[in-house]
Amino acid sequence: MIFYFSGCGNSRHIAETLSNKLNDTLVFIPEAARNNHYNYTLAEGELLGFVFPVYSWAPPRLVLDFVKQLQLSPKPEYVYFACTCGDECGQTEKIFRKALQEKDWGLSACFSLQMPETYIAMGSFKLDTEENARKKIVAADTTLTQALPRLLNREHFSEVHVGGFAWLKSHLINSGFNKYATDDRKYHATEKCIGCGKCVEVCPLKNITLEDGHPKWNGHCTMCMACYHYCPTNAIQYGKETEGKGQYYFGMI
Ligand SMILES: Cc1cc2nc3c(=O)[nH]c(=O)nc-3n(C[C@H](O)[C@H](O)[C@H](O)COP(=O)(O)O)c2cc1C
Ligand code: SF4
Ligand code: SF4
Repeated sequence: MIFYFSGCGNSRHIAETLSNKLNDTLVFIPEAARNNHYNYTLAEGELLGFVFPVYSWAPPRLVLDFVKQLQLSPKPEYVYFACTCGDECGQTEKIFRKALQEKDWGLSACFSLQMPETYIAMGSFKLDTEENARKKIVAADTTLTQALPRLLNREHFSEVHVGGFAWLKSHLINSGFNKYATDDRKYHATEKCIGCGKCVEVCPLKNITLEDGHPKWNGHCTMCMACYHYCPTNAIQYGKETEGKGQYYFGMI
């Protein structure tokens, strides 16, 4: 069984590839949480996987909240995670390992995959060039292909790209991010909005409604940026931070 979260499709691509190759069931975390579905039964010896993007050098808060509530029987024997990041993961592994320990589950394997950047809602943060984005996807697919037999053989390994100043980023900056940088009040749609409803459809948290043909953000945002990136007319902006920065979602290039 694979529990996954994705805003812009990078982690969905990884989760779907794993699910196809391992013949495992996929569960989309926001949907399961919305339906209060926290109890699952694993088959004898079944692998338990988690796939998610790195948000501010840590697993997204909603993923950690889900793990806290998750009930599995029997106790999972082999647990792994694959995280996607634009660059580096900080203490993502340490934080996820601790979350599992609190359930009395171990972490057997983990690896990170660099994928195209999606976060552009602050100052100098920008997207990868199309060439770089393509290179990252090809390299990630190779890493994933190499990881598959290791998962099937239930190997224990840890290959997460930590990067510098990890504690500072994953704790100090991360807590600031969760407190202040997930505020959706800076999202707005410009006159380019054609009222198509794509933003409503792609929001994993169902945080957007259309009112008089324009999106309204309802205060339960995880800052995945899917609404911004998938808008067909690039009508959505986050304050002035996103102006002129372009769009990306998996499958677009
Ligand atoms: C809110 C937010 C925070 C992010 N923080 C990080 C980070 O700390 N380190 C990093 O390398 N990439 C970071 N990224 C980039 C994403 O982890 C990366 O693009 C990921 O593949 C997006 O996955 P998705 O398409 O499944 O949503 C962040 C992206 C978002 C939207
Ligand atoms: S996706 Fe863009 S164009 Fe469509 S309703 Fe949302 S803001 Fe408007
Ligand atoms: S409102 Fe936009 S950024 Fe926030 S969770 Fe929904 S799609 Fe993601």
